[in-house]
Amino acid sequence: MSRKPIIAGNWKMNKTAKESRAFIEDVKLDIPSNDLVDAVIGAPAIFLEAMTEAVQGTDLQVAAQNCYWEDEGAFTGESSPKTLSDLGVDYVIIGHSERRQYFHESNEEINKKAHAIFRNGMKPIICCGETLETYEAGNAEEFVGQQITAALNELTEGQVQSLVIAYEPIWAIGTGKSATKDDAQKMCKTIRHIVAENFNQEVADQVRIQYGGSVKPENIAEYLACPDVDGALVGGASLQPESFLSLLEAIN
Ligand code: 13P
Repeated sequence: MSRKPIIAGNWKMNKTAKESRAFIEDVKLDIPSNDLVDAVIGAPAIFLEAMTEAVQGTDLQVAAQNCYWEDEGAFTGESSPKTLSDLGVDYVIIGHSERRQYFHESNEEINKKAHAIFRNGMKPIICCGETLETYEAGNAEEFVGQQITAALNELTEGQVQSLVIAYEPIWAIGTGKSATKDDAQKMCKTIRHIVAENFNQEVADQVRIQYGGSVKPENIAEYLACPDVDGALVGGASLQPESFLSLLEAIN
């Protein structure tokens, strides 16, 4: 089963519009072809328009880091999925552990966002992952299974096979303490199994599953070599042009 790898940078709340344009200028000629890899940058909502303009004519794609589940209305401060789509955004990252932890997002809300993203012609990157406590108690697979089952509720088979799931154990995010490749493979395989149970094997064989958590140029190849890991969602190591390009070089 060959699935196209997807390497996505998650810039979180970093950079200005000017810095983002300079980054795109630096990397754009060296992005590998879209036929080989989906190279994506997840930028803050406030300068997504600058990003979608800057990547035109390149093989880079743009992700938002969040959106609301209604297309419009009286929801002060939220980002409309309809507007993100209109700006040319390709993917929306949803359910990141920082949003679950600091903004109390629930599995049900994440599922509503997934539906809204598809309704507007974009694709979700759905994050999941357990705390250190849950990992040490041996309950990670059950916990992540519940997150995934809830997030995918009532999506169609066609939608699920086109979306991306990012397994990001919370204890590995920004800590420098990355999961072992065996841990990453084991959980990505479990997630694929859950997709097969909830939908079918064909859908599970198509869905792309990333690992995230302290991924860097030095360790990305280990993860990409795992049969059920189809790419990476990268925070800190995606912020510098050279480092982002080195991550993409791991695809061959
Ligand atoms: P780091 O790569 O900085 O650990 O962040 C991972 C992450 O949260 C990506 O979404």
